[in-house]
Amino acid sequence: MKILYAASEALPYISTGGLADVVGSLPKAVKAELGGNADVRVVIPMYPAIRDKYFDKLELVCETTVRLAWRNQYCGIWKTVSDGVTFYFIDNLYYFERSMLYGNFDDAERFAFFSKCVLELMAAVNFYPDVLHANDWQTALSVIYLKRKYAHLEEYRRISALFTIHNIDYQGVFDFGILGDVFELPEWDRSIVEYNGCINLLKGAIACADMVNTVSPTYSREILTEYYASGLHHILRQIDWEGKLTGIINGIDVGYYNSETDPDIAATFTADDLSGKAIDKADLQRTCGLPEKPDVPVIAMVSRLAAHKGFDLVKRVIEELITCTTAQFVLLGTGEPMLERFFYDLGQRHPDRFCVKLEYNKALSKKFYAGADMFLMPSKSEPCGLAQMIASRYGTVPIVRECGGLADTIRPFNEYDETGNGFSFKNYNAHDMKHVVEYAISMYCHHSKWRNLVKNTMNVDFSWNVSAKRYIDIYNKIG
Ligand code: GLC
Repeated sequence: MKILYAASEALPYISTGGLADVVGSLPKAVKAELGGNADVRVVIPMYPAIRDKYFDKLELVCETTVRLAWRNQYCGIWKTVSDGVTFYFIDNLYYFERSMLYGNFDDAERFAFFSKCVLELMAAVNFYPDVLHANDWQTALSVIYLKRKYAHLEEYRRISALFTIHNIDYQGVFDFGILGDVFELPEWDRSIVEYNGCINLLKGAIACADMVNTVSPTYSREILTEYYASGLHHILRQIDWEGKLTGIINGIDVGYYNSETDPDIAATFTADDLSGKAIDKADLQRTCGLPEKPDVPVIAMVSRLAAHKGFDLVKRVIEELITCTTAQFVLLGTGEPMLERFFYDLGQRHPDRFCVKLEYNKALSKKFYAGADMFLMPSKSEPCGLAQMIASRYGTVPIVRECGGLADTIRPFNEYDETGNGFSFKNYNAHDMKHVVEYAISMYCHHSKWRNLVKNTMNVDFSWNVSAKRYIDIYNKIG
């Protein structure tokens, strides 16, 4: 079986969020599962950060030019092999030598070029996969091009496409003026990408792919409803009815996120011996300038500062929580300026109770995951969510809203039979969240119950073991 993954980011090379975790770890898990029977490759753009850090490890495969409408653009193909998976990097300084991965004025053209390169790469390196597995709007055009531009060519005819939606809120919506000039699509393909009077690349890929999946079973059902679908529920209901939509929960790289071996934390620990976690807690409190108190609960958030991550709720009740409880709160992340300002001010007002670090920093995030007692994730919507699983690996008990992947991964703690691996609430309501946070704090005070809960949390298997097999089932079905 031959599989080519296309995406705009992958760990360890480049990351702005959970997509990179998945693209960095799923292909390796699939390769590990299938062994010699599989040829698994990944393609992402070559960003400056990758060139700076990995140049010595990369090998130039070939240089070619790729057409995009009237443009003829340079395309360098570099590669490296990691855990049996070949990673390709598409080099073009004009498109990818930018300080930001996304949010440039010409993102449509940049990722149309990249998507075209995905198809051209197959010919350039003579690798025609059984399945092209594309991810999110940035590579949606690779699926559309495969089915609408390349499928008449002998080598491309048998390639099937799986398209994964990591977050339905990001759809790649553009004006029709660039249909031919940038996207190189003819007028008769207008209806393929048209949604609500605009070009919608996500919709185009959904329509063209042989199979579509989201990153948790619950989210795959939620997006059939108007509340969660960001306008795409009609098209999703249609493919669901055709049996083309499914949900597979993400795994995480349990080797990388491992409390027993992690080099980024002050002390390592196991579920049976948590003494190292106490050292990590003191280290986190010190890092955050909070009083080093071992007995007050530390509640962490590591998140993009975006409204849909549940920050409306946090903003509404955080002062009440600071007043009514003894807990310390720590927050790590960057995002919407209004939220950054709010939490910065809060930290100034309560320097011994609340600390915010306005950074995107993987190594520092490990200190948050390992040092805290609880991990708050009250998302308004959450396709899968990785942070609750990562926190669990470090015995930090998740408090989540029951939606998407949060509902699929966290079972609420039952204090009587001591089952469950976290706390949860259903309605997107600030005081429902506050109530559950207070309940979690009350459980924290029951030392033996809390120790068992932490154990439960650490003992859940969040590896790719099960989910990689489910992806392989899909590849077999469509490939
Ligand atoms: C997106 C989603 C997140 C998911 C991740 C990886 O970032 O918002 O819920 O875990 O993709 O699939």
